[in-house]
Amino acid sequence: MTVQHHFDAVIVGAGGAGLMAALNASKHARIAVISKLYPSRSHTGAAQGGIAAALGNVEEDHWEWHAFDTVKGGDYLCDQDAVEVMCHDAVEAVIELEHAGLPFNRTSAGKIDQRRFGGHTRPAPTDDNPDRRVAVQRACYAADRTGHMILQTLYQQCIKHGVQFFDEFQVVDIIVKNGACLGVVAYEIDSGEIHVFRSRATMFATGGFGRMWKVTSNAYSLTGDGNAIALRRGVPMEDMEFYQFHPTGIYKLGVLLTEGVRGEGGILLNKDGERFMPRYAPSIKDLASRDVVSRAIFQEVKAGRGIDGKDYVYLDIRPEVVNRYFDEDGAKNVDGTPRRITAEDVRKKLPDISDFVETYLGIDPVTAPMPIQPTAHYAMGGIPTDIDGRVVIDEKSTVMPGLYAAGECACVSVHGANRLGTNSLVDLVVFGRRAGKAMIADLDGLPTDDLPADAAEYTAEALARLLADGGTERVAILRRELQQLMTDDVGVYRNAGDLTKAVAGIRALQERYKHVAIDDHGKRFNQDLLEAWELGCLLDLAEVTAVAALERQESRGGHAREDFPDRDDGAWLKHSLGYQTAQGVEMRYKPVTITKYPPKARVY
Ligand code: FUM
Repeated sequence: MTVQHHFDAVIVGAGGAGLMAALNASKHARIAVISKLYPSRSHTGAAQGGIAAALGNVEEDHWEWHAFDTVKGGDYLCDQDAVEVMCHDAVEAVIELEHAGLPFNRTSAGKIDQRRFGGHTRPAPTDDNPDRRVAVQRACYAADRTGHMILQTLYQQCIKHGVQFFDEFQVVDIIVKNGACLGVVAYEIDSGEIHVFRSRATMFATGGFGRMWKVTSNAYSLTGDGNAIALRRGVPMEDMEFYQFHPTGIYKLGVLLTEGVRGEGGILLNKDGERFMPRYAPSIKDLASRDVVSRAIFQEVKAGRGIDGKDYVYLDIRPEVVNRYFDEDGAKNVDGTPRRITAEDVRKKLPDISDFVETYLGIDPVTAPMPIQPTAHYAMGGIPTDIDGRVVIDEKSTVMPGLYAAGECACVSVHGANRLGTNSLVDLVVFGRRAGKAMIADLDGLPTDDLPADAAEYTAEALARLLADGGTERVAILRRELQQLMTDDVGVYRNAGDLTKAVAGIRALQERYKHVAIDDHGKRFNQDLLEAWELGCLLDLAEVTAVAALERQESRGGHAREDFPDRDDGAWLKHSLGYQTAQGVEMRYKPVTITKYPPKARVY
């Protein structure tokens, strides 16, 4: 017995992208948001340091400068038309959030305050170096809880505007008929019942899949559900070889310590107490893009300069240390006074990370450096979409009617091969909003077909298979092996040997997954069953990630091949599309859209 629902649009995922879409669509139609979590627990809440928008509140800035930085940060793999839309719309979107009640930090003049972040720059030419750029204050922030505040603000607004929430429902499938998406099938976690949602427009905003690595900033829930569901229904995954490792996760735990720490002046130190980033990025040093900084940390560790000979370095925001480097760099405020940071600044502007290191490590960042290592953080790739969130299923830009995606699960592509810090929040707000509007604009033209009689059959069978007795494999063991394999062989640095091993290893895990056993056969809050289902998603996405990484024989952004150390625009300035087939992953490619920013060598 399945429960049936009808809505104009159903949005799966209650993070920033889903809520922004819901809010914009709710003024014109009946909208449901389905989330496996209580909405305010969505992972947008973990984004700490800021949301970029060229407001120019602290110093001169222009959205075109933001667009240039984004394209360069993405190692020229971004679709530049999409980047222009994002950076242009960011300004209006941030003001909209402000008006919705988001408590941004303020300048002394009462404007939204802005801080520096990696890869965000402005031109600062000198006679010697006409292309010189320096860090610009572009990230609008609410202490180090920016994502959390966006989530709370949007959730309150959605409630106010009558969005209907289905909390703790796990979406397991989309219903596709004649090539169009007609809705979703979900499992109600509280009751174990299956629900079918008929909706003319269906949107995925289900976040990322960082749980396939061992050390990650991602919450337990980030298992790529929306991506895997789409992949199984014929949607390719774009640019999956590009996965971002954030340089500063707490050592061994992966918990994020925001790039905002370095935005406020924090520096990275090796075991010799050397600030090593100037050797890798002479111009913007510790505020280089994330791929550059993560690789630099790996190089330091490899050269034996990790702290205590181990695989971590220090992130230091102690005022006496940072102020010494400010003096050494001649760092100035916009009014020309010497730049300074105080203990009070650290506590006020970075309260959450102060709390995290106190809680997990017993460290006060005002008096001690923080041990960090790169942590699996963000998928640049995902479900291909156009600039209005419509899901694209091939290299000819064919759209699947009725299906939309935005946020981390989607690939517009605005991040190319490496995302700049703060641009995830920009992406989800801008493209969530555009997808919400597009769903409403498209609604009348979307199919009105009845649902097929067997709409819920696939879901019922998939769950029954996991619940069946007689399996011999354990979910936790398979997941641990997957995470180890991805960390060892599909990490910051890759090579053909390791990637070949990874592909074979993932396929072996997929075979073993067919024999998985769970202990809980109950109907209510069956976490055992859900974790088993989520593992299947991670395995399918890991396979595409590893195959796409093996195929791409160059280094670009977050994809660093030891055996192909250079970027190769001649052969590889193209997006990858990985399709799931009975024979394994099939790769196809499509061109990158270039508008104003021709590819150049990338130096920081
Ligand atoms: O470092 C951070 O605060 C993370 C932000 C982001 O991933 O954009």
